[in-house]
Amino acid sequence: MYRRPLVTALDRLGLREGWTCVDVGAGGGDVSVALAEIVGHDGRIYAVDSDPARRDEVAKAAAQHAQVVALTQAGEDLVLPESVDLAFCRFLLLHVVDPLTVLKRMARAVRLGGWVVAQEPITSAGRVAGEPMSMPDALHPDIGALLPAVVRQAGLDIVDAWGESPAGVGGAVGDYLEAMTGVDPGDDPVVLPPLVTVVARRPA
Ligand SMILES: C[S@@+](CC[C@H](N)C(=O)[O-])C[C@H]1O[C@@H](n2cnc3c(N)ncnc32)[C@H](O)[C@@H]1O
Repeated sequence: MYRRPLVTALDRLGLREGWTCVDVGAGGGDVSVALAEIVGHDGRIYAVDSDPARRDEVAKAAAQHAQVVALTQAGEDLVLPESVDLAFCRFLLLHVVDPLTVLKRMARAVRLGGWVVAQEPITSAGRVAGEPMSMPDALHPDIGALLPAVVRQAGLDIVDAWGESPAGVGGAVGDYLEAMTGVDPGDDPVVLPPLVTVVARRPA
């Protein structure tokens, strides 16, 4: 469902073959695999997650991509063996105690002039049958609404920022919502939480 905002962001920053990247909060590896497909075998993707169980998931998802290296590390303690061209996170900052700390570590992980891209939701702007959505388990469910400010506070130069939201009645959007929440929205109209994307650079 959220592949389109990912593709838009990668087009916007011009991700190319041979880049080195880190995907922080890699989860099941959806973003890591998408990055690996573009950077090819001359590039490298560090798939970082604080949950050790995710390392096996990423390894499985990225079995065809030897350039993906899965690491167990908290974003707050991010340390990589090399400076990278791009640090990326999606659906991560809503779950961390202090999003600014993680963004600062991501900024430090990229080379001078390198890229930081964050994609985070405004959960309460999502709607089912016109009613706002909520995510009680998340520490910052609406972090997307603050994202440009937090990225700037991390010392990064914002190149572009926008919001994007899948919507529909039944079909793929309904199936996605049911998979995420266990509740079938039936024929109720659904607007999934908009994902705010911020594309930024570390000052050279
Ligand atoms: C909702 S999943 C997002 C997965 C993936 N980025 C995506 O968009 O498909 C959030 C992931 O962040 C990880 N996570 C949570 N807090 C973290 C932290 N402080 N540092 C690194 N990873 C963290 C979780 O273990 C989980 O795998």
